[in-house]
Amino acid sequence: MKSDKNLLAELIRGMRSAYRSGENAMAYARANLDAAGESVNSTVATLIAYDLQAGTYVARARNDPAFNRDWCRQMAGIVKPLMQQGSSLLEVGCGEATTLAGVLRELGKLEPVAYGFDISWSRIKVANEWLKESDVCGQLFVADLFRLPMASNSIDVVYTSHSLEPNGGKEREAIEELVRVARRYVVLVEPAYELAGEAAQGRMLHHGYVKGLRDAAIACDVEVLDHRPLPVTPNPMNPSGVLVLKKRQVDDPAATTLWRCPVTDTSLRENGDAFVSDDAGLAYPILGGIPLLRAEHAVVASLLCR
Ligand SMILES: C[S@@+](CC[C@H](N)C(=O)[O-])C[C@H]1O[C@@H](n2cnc3c(N)ncnc32)[C@H](O)[C@@H]1O
Repeated sequence: MKSDKNLLAELIRGMRSAYRSGENAMAYARANLDAAGESVNSTVATLIAYDLQAGTYVARARNDPAFNRDWCRQMAGIVKPLMQQGSSLLEVGCGEATTLAGVLRELGKLEPVAYGFDISWSRIKVANEWLKESDVCGQLFVADLFRLPMASNSIDVVYTSHSLEPNGGKEREAIEELVRVARRYVVLVEPAYELAGEAAQGRMLHHGYVKGLRDAAIACDVEVLDHRPLPVTPNPMNPSGVLVLKKRQVDDPAATTLWRCPVTDTSLRENGDAFVSDDAGLAYPILGGIPLLRAEHAVVASLLCR
């Protein structure tokens, strides 16, 4: 049996080399993790696969601005009726912010307070540049959608744009965490397995994509306001659908502090080049201006804490 360290070293070497030779890095990971008895599409494999692709989504948005505009308009059209002036908005797994930037442009007059995160640092690096070039503002950070560094009931509208996609088998866990952080609504724009044809379904199963999102949401005790296929979709073999979810306990008070430690649930404050939890004595570094807020980034740093 391989140690975790050897498995990670082999995985990152193998995935980088597969990517460089034009193969699917995730397929490499699936084959090798399966052989090692690890779960399909593990978080670390998803992270490496997407990090390797950093820059490709911006290149695509530049090559096909008409599609990017239609996609972002569709998304903005879904979230806009759920928002008020100055509402907070979070894109989960925002990649290079090619969706977030367009959504913010469309919602301009509402002046949303925008956040976005991804598990990949390299993609957030590209995303920051894309937001700047698009002349919109949002605070971006690195985090894992299964353990968000944000307080419960802290964001008015939380949405996804194909970011739950590679996390097949963990649908309920993902939705529970997004519902926890949302104050009012969660919007999932994801591959619509149940609404897709047989060939598309076969492809989604092959790639380990999410399915059964509606049932998973119902199990999380939310009201389903809308569930339908979407007309604008990036790939007919991976058709998009929308699920609009409303939290039932909308009377819960809004969180008074936004950031929370993903390890200890204590509150975090920004302190120069780190986010720190005074209660836990933990710090989360900021790398290249990007806060690293995954549990794995925690540094024991009592001296930084009050
Ligand atoms: C298909 S891309 C979509 C990116 C972006 N939402 C968009 O519309 O262009 C999926 C993104 O989800 C991110 N992702 C997948 N699993 C994640 C997780 N557990 N935590 C945070 N991000 C994740 C990936 O890194 C990737 O950038």
